[in-house]
Amino acid sequence: MVGGEDAETLGQRIVEVAVDHERHELRDPASGYRAYVPQGSIARGRTIAQAGQGGPALACIACHGADLRGVGAIPPLAGRSPTYIVRQLLAFRTGARSAAAGAPMLPVVAQMNVDDMIAAAAYAASLDP
Ligand code: HEC
Repeated sequence: MVGGEDAETLGQRIVEVAVDHERHELRDPASGYRAYVPQGSIARGRTIAQAGQGGPALACIACHGADLRGVGAIPPLAGRSPTYIVRQLLAFRTGARSAAAGAPMLPVVAQMNVDDMIAAAAYAASLDP
């Protein structure tokens, strides 16, 4: 265990923190965030994104583009907040996000558990937008 008495291990979580707390408090839209992701998740996410969890048709790159920068109406994932990405994947999975436009995502999330979602999000977030 490193850090002070209040330290705890990250485990299977994503924690995003403002790089500059003062600029974050000032609601500076250019204030950056740093994401801490589970060990090994970026490498695992790359496999999920490129090979698919349940086959290549479900690989993120099949629809979101080889660099995950989006294709036409399909939104980009590269460089976006990993917390946001996981929330959306969960929303597709639970049906909270159920617009017809999201139908292609349903077979994708059906094959993913929360750790898969965290891994895919960690990889996407690690890419240049
Ligand atoms: C078969 C095509 C397809 C595949 C494969 C696919 N997606 Fe998507 N994805 C879409 C479409 C289409 C949308 C847009 C849905 C909408 O407009 O509501 C979307 C939206 C999303 C969103 C919401 C983005 C936003 O701006 O709110 C996330 C996050 C996402 N996909 C992640 C993934 C991940 C991670 C993978 C791989 C594990 C993946 N997608 C694989 C088609 C796909």
